[in-house]
Amino acid sequence: MSSNGAILVVDFGAQYSQLIARRVREANVYSEIVSYEITEREIKDRAPVGIILSGGPKSVHQPGAPSLDPNIFGLGIPILGICYGAQLIAQIEGGTVLKTGRGEYGRTTIEVNDRSGILACLARQESQVWMSHSDSIVSVPDGYKISASSLQAPVAALENASKKIYGVQFHPEVVHTDGGRELINLFVREICGATPNWTSASIIEASVAKIRSQVGDGKVLCALSGGVDSAVAATLVHRAVGEQLTCVFVDTGLMRKGEADEVEALFAGKFHVELIMADEKDRFLSKLQGVEDPESKRKIIGENFIRVFESIAKKLGDHKFLVQGTLYPDVIESGGQDAAIIKTHHNVGGLPEDMDFKLIEPLRDLFKDEVRTIGLELGLSEEIIWRQPFPGPGLAVRIVGEVTKERLDILSAADAIVVEEVKSYGLWKELWQSFAVLPAVRSVGVMGDERTYAYPIIVRAVTSEDAMTADWARLPFELLDRIANRLINEVAGVNRVAYDITSKPPGTIEWE
Ligand code: XMP
Repeated sequence: MSSNGAILVVDFGAQYSQLIARRVREANVYSEIVSYEITEREIKDRAPVGIILSGGPKSVHQPGAPSLDPNIFGLGIPILGICYGAQLIAQIEGGTVLKTGRGEYGRTTIEVNDRSGILACLARQESQVWMSHSDSIVSVPDGYKISASSLQAPVAALENASKKIYGVQFHPEVVHTDGGRELINLFVREICGATPNWTSASIIEASVAKIRSQVGDGKVLCALSGGVDSAVAATLVHRAVGEQLTCVFVDTGLMRKGEADEVEALFAGKFHVELIMADEKDRFLSKLQGVEDPESKRKIIGENFIRVFESIAKKLGDHKFLVQGTLYPDVIESGGQDAAIIKTHHNVGGLPEDMDFKLIEPLRDLFKDEVRTIGLELGLSEEIIWRQPFPGPGLAVRIVGEVTKERLDILSAADAIVVEEVKSYGLWKELWQSFAVLPAVRSVGVMGDERTYAYPIIVRAVTSEDAMTADWARLPFELLDRIANRLINEVAGVNRVAYDITSKPPGTIEWE
């Protein structure tokens, strides 16, 4: 996507940079994250309509702290600085920033002195905002006025309307800031005058045109995993080049119950995509025989996935392009927009880098929530769009110890019950993941006057933002009770149910 007419978010190492970019896009304006090392020349070339300076962990007066080419302030492009970004504006323009020893963290009240500019969207004289700073701006540069203050920050907002430069010490991108979304909207739409053309329809249209021009009359291969990213990527490519696309679904037998059938019904059925269903259940089961170590399982599954895919690609012979479901956060993490080489391991089963394909990455500019929105617009079902993340090695890392046909059948039946009950209770979308785990122990029980010696099922449900940390979900007892009842009554070989109340850290989400 071109930056022309976009909002550039200059990243000073903030944990919230991606959130800022998403908020801008929610105002239907394209935004890109760039490094603070960007030069005046590069900004001119990109021709953005506005610039937002992010927060950051450093102090502006620390030696070596990230700064910005001061000439950028003279380009006449509206600038909004947030937290560190606001302090940088103060420092570069001639004000003073000090470590006052009076930081503010979390919900804070600001007194709004002037609502004629960037704070016009705040409804009240006193507003609740989210702060996270230990340094403060103590004097503003010439030509700037103070438009809000808080108890500990004499300058909670500063602005120079004629230069269209604004700074806020608080975080408008965070939901806890009253009117924060409106503040970003106001900056983007009114102050910068950005055109609100970043919509699902326009994303799809631009993406389809780009794929067509990349592919020409070539043939494209896409590995489907059953997850939302590969599904949306495949659907976009199919819309662009139709029958030139062939999809491959490798059925490892380690998927959730019914997953292979769902993928087939959707792609071969509804979308009429040329789909190769590779039934490799026996292969994976036999390769996993006797293997107990989690990392060995992962390695075996990864390698065999690649072998199967490679042999299909070789048989087809004439497919030069490979679809990857790379998302914008992957692009940012691997060095930004200009990093031409994207690590192939991020997506679709970890296909090797030495495969001789040209990559098609239709989701490269998009955040996950945008992928979901365009997926719905493309006609994918809610079912696919709201899939919870599922690990590449599938149920194999939820069976502690050896994966056998018997144990796979138990887990797959148990997992389907957990999924069904969580969905019917209306909690599916709220949970990051919810599933069953089969440990490698058995315990004694009594069922119908008979002693049993069978497996327990561990139910695991977590909430999370990004899987880096997670909390165990406080599922209602009523739901746990239903799940436990059904597991014992319906899954042969199960006589006990436990609920995992471990957060991450110290646990991980998966058991292996
Ligand atoms: P953990 O268990 O490390 O999982 O807390 C974090 C997230 O990653 C998923 N996961 C995997 N995904 N291949 C994958 O594609 C894997 O080997 C793998 N292991 C864990 C897990 O489901 C969770 O969302």
